[in-house]
Amino acid sequence: MQEKEDKKNTVIIGCDHAAYQLKEKIKEFMVSKGYSVEDVGTHSESSVDYPDFGVQVASQVSNGTYQRGILMCGTGLGMSMVANKYSNVRAALCTEPFSAGMSRHHNDSNILVLGGRITGEELAYEIVDVWLKTAFDGGRHQSRIEKFSRLGKAGE
Ligand code: RB5
Repeated sequence: MQEKEDKKNTVIIGCDHAAYQLKEKIKEFMVSKGYSVEDVGTHSESSVDYPDFGVQVASQVSNGTYQRGILMCGTGLGMSMVANKYSNVRAALCTEPFSAGMSRHHNDSNILVLGGRITGEELAYEIVDVWLKTAFDGGRHQSRIEKFSRLGKAGE
């Protein structure tokens, strides 16, 4: 029971080789701010396939094991495509803090996606900080989310 609650308050993070350096920096930053982090890898700059890590994070946010996740790859594009295939996942690829905040306020994003070849570490810290601190506004935004969450997955 306690373990389940601890996981809910932990942010699950994952990356591929192209964002390994950024993931390490973000992990340090989050720990220094008092967040607990579950790191599914990758753990080096050796080439890997981003879906293998995207799936580990997105599936565990989708099933409610973790409430929030952060994914990183070179551009962030591949990771967002993978993550948004999962039910209950609203992954937001952000390159600046304003969108990161709005993705929480209006879209209740539960996975933040960053591009390790796009966003430098200082800017990434700002994005992560805002994203972690910002609450969902609910209200009309909840019903808008429900409109597209009911759609299921196109093409299935
Ligand atoms: C890896 O070279 C790169 O394709 C990957 O990190 C990502 O940017 C994919 O979208």
